Amino acid sequence: MAQILGGITTSHIPAIGGAIAKEKFQEPYWKSFFEAYGKVHSWLDAVKPDVAVVVYNDHGLNFFLDKMPTFSIGAARQYRNADEGWGLSTVPPFPGFPELSWYVIEELVAAEFDITTCQDMVVDHGFVIPMQLLWTHRLKGACPVKLVPVCVNTVQHPLPNPARCLKLGRAIGEAIASYPEDLKVVVIGTGGLSHQLDGERAGFINKDFDLWCMDKIVTNPEAIAEHSIHDLVRLSGAQGVELINWLIMRGALGEHVEKRHQNYHIPISNTASGLMLLEAA
Ligand code: DHB
Ligand code: FE
Repeated sequence: MAQILGGITTSHIPAIGGAIAKEKFQEPYWKSFFEAYGKVHSWLDAVKPDVAVVVYNDHGLNFFLDKMPTFSIGAARQYRNADEGWGLSTVPPFPGFPELSWYVIEELVAAEFDITTCQDMVVDHGFVIPMQLLWTHRLKGACPVKLVPVCVNTVQHPLPNPARCLKLGRAIGEAIASYPEDLKVVVIGTGGLSHQLDGERAGFINKDFDLWCMDKIVTNPEAIAEHSIHDLVRLSGAQGVELINWLIMRGALGEHVEKRHQNYHIPISNTASGLMLLEAA
């Protein structure tokens, strides 16, 4: 049977891609941010997952405001990246796992989650930056895991509410646990933490709320899930709602998790970065 080993949360800020391309790892602005990934790399290299389920949000590359599914899942052999205009080089395609994707999609639809199925899907910085941070940069482009992208609408309101996202995560966890092949799976939640990129509150960061979320995501994700989307916008900024990706990740891990690593870093660009490594109990 497939087994979920743990979950990782990571920022996906495009500026990180620029810093990776220019190898700014030792620069004062970046040093402690990148160093914090060392423990996560060691864990990944020790447990050697076969698959990563990547819960992220697209920002206008694959879906635009004219057509915006709430939840969509990739079911492709590979996922291409394309130029989004951030000045980042386009990276080679990532390997998919359509058999597992379709299995999860079937289970989710049976569990009354309406999923948009994507047999062709381009992946943006919300997906690519985490892959670079966790694997592809240090492995010289290699991606040792097969990928199941789970894309969540955090862009075009109405957004799915946090409680629904936690439930979706639980359903994903149950689907994976019933997949008949022996596979080691990690679940990644990308984006967050507090940030607002435009408008009167541009640059808004809420350290108290971010640290509260990093605590509750371990011990009591329901406490985060009690918030409405509008609560999250108020407390963590218009783009801070990317936190719902974390809730889906957390739901997939089951009731109890052990926190193995945590780093909170402000700011990167205009945004709070939260790195966490949670092991499924
Ligand atoms: C930034 C943060 C994001 O989540 C994003 O998608 C794009 C940019 C930023 O802080 O620059
Ligand atoms: Fe984002």
